[in-house]
Amino acid sequence: MTPRRQDFFSSRKMLFLGLAFHLFLLLSPSAARIGYFWHITDIHYDVHYSVSGDIRKSCRRTENKLGGAVGNSRPAGRFGDHNCDSPWDLVESAAKAMKSKHGDNIEFVLWTGDGVAHSPGVSGDHQLERLKNLTHLLRHTFSSQFVFPVLGHDDPNPGLHFGQGYRDVANYWRPWLPTEAIQTFNKGGYYTIERKLQKLRLVMLNTNLCSDIVGNEEDPAGQWAWLEETLQKSQRNRETVYLVGHMPPGVDERQNGGISPYHEVFQARFNQRYLRLVRKYSDIIVGQFFGHLHSDSFRIVYSDTGRPVSWIFLTPAVSPKKTPSGANNPGLRLYKFDTDSGQVLDYRQYYLDLDAANRQNVAEWQPEYNFTDHYGLNEVSAHELHNLVESFAVQEGATLFSRYYRANSVRFHHNTEGCDASCAHTHYCAITRLDYQEFRSCLETAASALASAGVIALCIPWSLLVLLLMPLLHALVQSVLMPSFGGLHYS
Ligand SMILES: *[C@@H]1O[C@H](CO)[C@@H](O)[C@H](O)[C@H]1NC(C)=O
Ligand SMILES: *[C@@H]1O[C@H](CO)[C@@H](O)[C@H](O)[C@H]1NC(C)=O
Ligand SMILES: [Zn+2]
Ligand SMILES: [Zn+2]
Repeated sequence: MTPRRQDFFSSRKMLFLGLAFHLFLLLSPSAARIGYFWHITDIHYDVHYSVSGDIRKSCRRTENKLGGAVGNSRPAGRFGDHNCDSPWDLVESAAKAMKSKHGDNIEFVLWTGDGVAHSPGVSGDHQLERLKNLTHLLRHTFSSQFVFPVLGHDDPNPGLHFGQGYRDVANYWRPWLPTEAIQTFNKGGYYTIERKLQKLRLVMLNTNLCSDIVGNEEDPAGQWAWLEETLQKSQRNRETVYLVGHMPPGVDERQNGGISPYHEVFQARFNQRYLRLVRKYSDIIVGQFFGHLHSDSFRIVYSDTGRPVSWIFLTPAVSPKKTPSGANNPGLRLYKFDTDSGQVLDYRQYYLDLDAANRQNVAEWQPEYNFTDHYGLNEVSAHELHNLVESFAVQEGATLFSRYYRANSVRFHHNTEGCDASCAHTHYCAITRLDYQEFRSCLETAASALASAGVIALCIPWSLLVLLLMPLLHALVQSVLMPSFGGLHYS
């Protein structure tokens, strides 16, 4: 990072750490080191949450003072409810968990937006106050590390691409951001962090500017030109890059087969533009990290010739609130990486069993799984992820798919009972087809194959059927789509 010295060396402890660190670097100039960083996202702190609130009304205190929990099927829990966004007790427990599980020995924290709950009727100033509460909490939790935040679509002023909106937020985040970062943040909510002694560069995007809020604008707040220029420069300087944002490209994997709209968050033209850039710079992009969907999933980007060239990890939300796509338990993620090259080595997903926490009146965050172990992977790479998702499609992969599906809701769903053939196939298509057209073709191909197999479907459960049919579907998909994107298989 390029810390501003007065911040970095603001205390004796930091001075000591700083000297020790520099000494370390002198002794081993470019030694690869294993490091860690946290990724926290979609906290959705709701200041109006109350245990005496109505779970049918976001657990908010109602106007009726006598109301309270009367008429509720159950009271709202101290640490939250699957109908509601996060109470402060949940937010605080998440910060404590990060501190206690892995507090000191971390390089930085990624915080990818939606800090505050969407509150109709709450003024922007009040929303900013809430964002300040969260900033304050994270600063105290990580007093000697840097947190790199991006704006979420529910944060105050995500779409204000000029003027005061960005500046207000930047003022809170100033202690974490170098001067050049503040300059571009003020312009459009995006910035880059260059690490002086290491190759890895963080590129923090404002992907809210890829959604409908920007209308027909060609290059909202100049972000695209800036991004391409930044990537070019990184390539010239032989750096590696993380792309980090709130809303991801591609589609929501949790909508069930063919329901329209397809939960596309980027405008189609921006979705394509993003994918083109990732393909073009896939040799330097060593990680992409997003939130917004509240689920635990991943995406694979393929080259024009069908080679898996890049991956995206989607980290699940802290907020347990049910979205139209489903609910989840609160999650937090710790990445393990090579601090010099940025190569991601593994991650550990942590979670809170919300019902248990409320029952026991204590929030015990636990490891949920460890990525490479969970899926039996040799390494974190687009190629390994490609093999994983292809294995979902064959019978032997059924166990892996059920592991994936359980993790997808952060163990809110314990098995694949609720996920029939078309649900499973939607996950497959969303993971492997980020282009909207290709995603639709992927779904349609499956639908017609399933329909013509309808007779068999009467005798065997859907989930089994899809597994049996997958190889056939693949052959079909390949032969139908081959001309448009040159085949998906890479072996
Ligand atoms: C949030 O900040 C306000 C003032 O800025 C403070 O009064 C309040 O106690 C804070 N809330 C929490 C939960 O820290
Ligand atoms: C995952 O587990 C392995 C083995 O237990 C461990 O060495 C590794 O550090 C873990 N990864 C993370 C990110 O914690
Ligand atoms: Zn969100
Ligand atoms: Zn969002």
